[in-house]
Amino acid sequence: MITIAVTAENQPETRVAASPETVKKLSALGCTVRIESGAGLRSRFSDDVFKAAGATIAATAAEALAGADMLLAVRRPSLDDVKALKPGAMVIAILDPYSGRDGLEAIASTGASSFAMEFMPRITRAQSMDVLSSQANLAGYKAVIDAASMQEQAVPMMMTAAGTVPACKAFIMGVGVAGLQAIATARRLGAIVTATDVRPATKEQVASLGAKFVAVEDDEFKQAQTAAGYAKPMSVEYQAKQAELVANHIKIQDIVITTALIPGRPAPRLITREMVESMKPGAVIVDLAAERGGNCELTKPGEVVEHNGVRISGPLNLAGTVAVNASALYAKNIYAFLEPMFDKKEKVMKINWDDETVEGTLVSKDGKLVHPSLVTQGT
Ligand code: NAI
Repeated sequence: MITIAVTAENQPETRVAASPETVKKLSALGCTVRIESGAGLRSRFSDDVFKAAGATIAATAAEALAGADMLLAVRRPSLDDVKALKPGAMVIAILDPYSGRDGLEAIASTGASSFAMEFMPRITRAQSMDVLSSQANLAGYKAVIDAASMQEQAVPMMMTAAGTVPACKAFIMGVGVAGLQAIATARRLGAIVTATDVRPATKEQVASLGAKFVAVEDDEFKQAQTAAGYAKPMSVEYQAKQAELVANHIKIQDIVITTALIPGRPAPRLITREMVESMKPGAVIVDLAAERGGNCELTKPGEVVEHNGVRISGPLNLAGTVAVNASALYAKNIYAFLEPMFDKKEKVMKINWDDETVEGTLVSKDGKLVHPSLVTQGT
């Protein structure tokens, strides 16, 4: 019988790595799920609800972890939790593997098989395990809601006896998972939506959501997508053309949502100080790339700054502000990852270490960091 521990995340994280639904499903696989008291509170999952789903409530993290075979977490576990791990336990979390290597080594030194959910390969079979997508989708939604509520004007056009309220103009920069949901949300609110990206595949996606695509569509644009589906860094020449287009377009926008990222690099700078200065007072920029340096020159991660009447928000964990949904989807991502590891008949774990999802996310095993991207950094 496998015992799974779920501990409460450290503030300010609001999410939790299990939901009542996944507790039920994990129990059906033959697992015992031990949840630290209060771990789900900020996602509105009370201890009682978890208990009704079949979990055991532990008074402390140490109690939840005592002898447990597996720890499920949202963020990299705290050192206290790491110390309480059973040697050789499994750890599954968004491990943030490229920062604070000491913390990662501390996990490895317990002999843990640790898995970074953000390393999940983007293959069709793993879509249900993809935490970047499940969380980015919610962040894209919430960015528009936040921008709309920060404004002193209504979003949709309203024709009233007292006059017509004009529709807001919203511009979405970067049309990946977050950007697509931002377009859909802004459209639902009634904004006039335009969007830009450097990947040609996005043109049709933008149109299918009823928004207008604006981009520099030269030869470089035609080659801008990598085999993995991500954007390439663009040349200085392309960036100059893009900046000119953005400068002209951004002046008339009320809401700008930026989501542009390039894997393994700082976020591309798409909005300069001058562009912000050309915008209308009252306009709002929500920069979802804040964690990676921001798409806007004036973004301060974790803050809302005001410049010439334009507010620029750089939220760090927007998915965490819709924790009810973010936790439910994250917990489902983890369950989808774990489920194939169980032998349903014998109710035991049989991990296929060669499986692409297992191999791709495995960070440490048998006391060592094993992920290729971490080993080459010089261990
Ligand atoms: P991301 O978070 O890495 O980047 C967001 C967007 O920014 C991307 O669309 C990118 O093209 C764009 N961008 C980068 N540089 C830019 C620039 N200079 N100007 C304007 N836009 C720029 O991307 P995300 O959301 O992770 O999606 C990347 C791709 O992966 C998409 O094609 C998506 O459909 C695909 N995907 C596949 C999955 C699967 O098969 N399991 C799951 C999720 C996404």
